[in-house]
Amino acid sequence: MSQVRIGVIGLGMMGRHHGRLCQSLDAFDFVGAVDPQGDQYGVIHQGQVFSDTESLLKQGIEAAVIAVPTHLHYETAMQLREAGIHVLIEKPLAGTTEEAAEIVEAFEGSGLIAAVGHVERCNPALNEMRQRLNKEQLGPVFSISTVRTGPFPARITDVGVVKDLATHDIDIVRWLAGEIHEIHSVTKHKMDRQHEDLMVAVGLAGDNVAVSMQVAWISPIKQRSVTVLGEKGALQADLLSSDLTFFENGHTSSEWEAIQQMRGVTEGNVTRYAFSKSEPIQIELLRFKEAITGGSDDDLVSLEDGLRTLQVAEDLIKETQ
Ligand SMILES: NC(=O)c1ccc[n+]([C@@H]2O[C@H](COP(=O)([O-])OP(=O)(O)OC[C@H]3O[C@@H](n4cnc5c(N)ncnc54)[C@H](O)[C@@H]3O)[C@@H](O)[C@H]2O)c1
Repeated sequence: MSQVRIGVIGLGMMGRHHGRLCQSLDAFDFVGAVDPQGDQYGVIHQGQVFSDTESLLKQGIEAAVIAVPTHLHYETAMQLREAGIHVLIEKPLAGTTEEAAEIVEAFEGSGLIAAVGHVERCNPALNEMRQRLNKEQLGPVFSISTVRTGPFPARITDVGVVKDLATHDIDIVRWLAGEIHEIHSVTKHKMDRQHEDLMVAVGLAGDNVAVSMQVAWISPIKQRSVTVLGEKGALQADLLSSDLTFFENGHTSSEWEAIQQMRGVTEGNVTRYAFSKSEPIQIELLRFKEAITGGSDDDLVSLEDGLRTLQVAEDLIKETQ
């Protein structure tokens, strides 16, 4: 099997996972990593750790994962574009839509594979959910609700919770329901930081599917969930455990029509599905490799998609400014 010579730029909380997997997967010939702070998490056993990207480029890589802080995505992506390297850029695509649009333009027509690391699209629970939605298991879909809350990761200083966390959910909603065409939000700054730390949004996506998104960095409850409600019941994905549960509407018929009308939908069977689960980042990296070596890029998140998601995120931040 042909291997792709790959490097990882940024070895922090996210980059360490890319580094670990790029070394262990047969798909890659791991060349090295870049981080001015070195290998803080002790994950690099093959290849070398450099303090700047130029040194990694001199080793001759074909592809790179960009996992530096968000405000550095732009300059790193542009440097790699200049060098003719395929890139997987961590989400969000860039710190601002202006920078994101420039990245899109720079890679357009370059022949390089360039994708955004919206890794939830590789979450087995969401893949299973999407397949079931496509088979119309729920019938017409009424709403999608996402919740992504937890304590504040103090290392994130360059963006707020909307660009950091809500971009996951914006991408998920767009991927499951279609484009978001109306959205309103409330944001809060409870930690006395420049950027928001809580957001609640409601809107419409696709074929008038009602959307709600809730993100917070000031919650003691770590939760990542997506619930889709339709005519026949609800599918709920727990993104932390990758579990998918179907809450079916009840089918019991009652001759007492008045009470059936009063109760509306009744509780039916609850099924938690069994399906195979692989680590989402591994799936994402293998899709990246597949596209680089001439396979399909259909399952990659395009730069245009990443830009659109960032535009929605900026609209959500502006709403209450
Ligand atoms: N897809 C996901 O689920 C997910 C999860 C977490 C973070 N992320 C994204 O990954 C990116 C990094 O986030 P993180 O949580 O790993 O942050 P982090 O602060 O833990 O790591 C960033 C690393 O980049 C290094 N760095 C800084 N400047 C650099 C440079 N010029 N060249 C190379 N390395 C440099 C830092 O020393 C640090 O080790 C962010 O864009 C974030 O949004 C994505």
